[in-house]
Amino acid sequence: MNTLHTIAQLRAALARARQDGKRIGLVPTMGNLHAGHVTLVNKARQRTDFVVVSIFVNPLQFGAGEDLESYPRTLEEDQRKVLDAGGDLVFAPNVKEIYPEGMGGHTRISVPVVSEGLCGASRPGHFEGVATVVCKLLNIVQPDLAVFGQKDYQQLAVIRKMAHDLCLPVLVMGEPTVRAEDGLALSSRNGYLSAEQRRTAPVLFEILQQVAKSVKDGERDYPVLIEAARQRLADSGLRADYLDLRDALTLNPVDADTRDMVILAAAYLGNTRLIDNLLFDLH
Ligand code: PAF
Repeated sequence: MNTLHTIAQLRAALARARQDGKRIGLVPTMGNLHAGHVTLVNKARQRTDFVVVSIFVNPLQFGAGEDLESYPRTLEEDQRKVLDAGGDLVFAPNVKEIYPEGMGGHTRISVPVVSEGLCGASRPGHFEGVATVVCKLLNIVQPDLAVFGQKDYQQLAVIRKMAHDLCLPVLVMGEPTVRAEDGLALSSRNGYLSAEQRRTAPVLFEILQQVAKSVKDGERDYPVLIEAARQRLADSGLRADYLDLRDALTLNPVDADTRDMVILAAAYLGNTRLIDNLLFDLH
């Protein structure tokens, strides 16, 4: 696998690909790739001719006390997985390459409204860090297409809004969450779970499914429904950070007219923060 570490090397490789008339796809990741990432690479592969997978654990999106230091870094295995999935090139810069003058004075991209609430409320500055690095990666690679996972639903909404507002010439695509057989959404952070926690974790998705089913079956007392779901999370040993029903398109709170909904949750199992969501509609 061809892995490049500098922006200059990457731009040279991309210039050659473009000269050959290739359409460029980008899959931005923080590495420790799993089957969910592989579907993103597959999608980019289907839609473009030259697929770049970036692997960069972005310090700007981690808050104090979060898992920046312990975040799994597995470049060698990741390179193999990218190759197997049909990727053409890994871009794995170090922090100095992306933030040569440090992060303090670096330009930041802030995407208001859609970044607020949910993960934005409990991880201040997180989406600013995500939007900044994604904008930067999009400017470095200048892809025709960039593919992201829907597991980070709010992140995808933030990136779409940024691309729209800043007229970035890229198609942003979201791919459905890939799950383990027991329903747990695949995540690099699942590796932090003990065997017992791993057995408990699928309850998060079960609860989301229950809420969606109740709404589809006609339940409209959303606060009561949400409270019952939070209680079930607590009874199962998870500490809810948030659990909320939102408009799937705007992420605004739902009202009587909302038809496309998403139920989103973040919950702690021990020290591990799991997130998940489920899209459904009332059409
Ligand atoms: O979802 C992720 O892995 C990251 O937030 C992203 C989009 C690669 C930006 O660092």
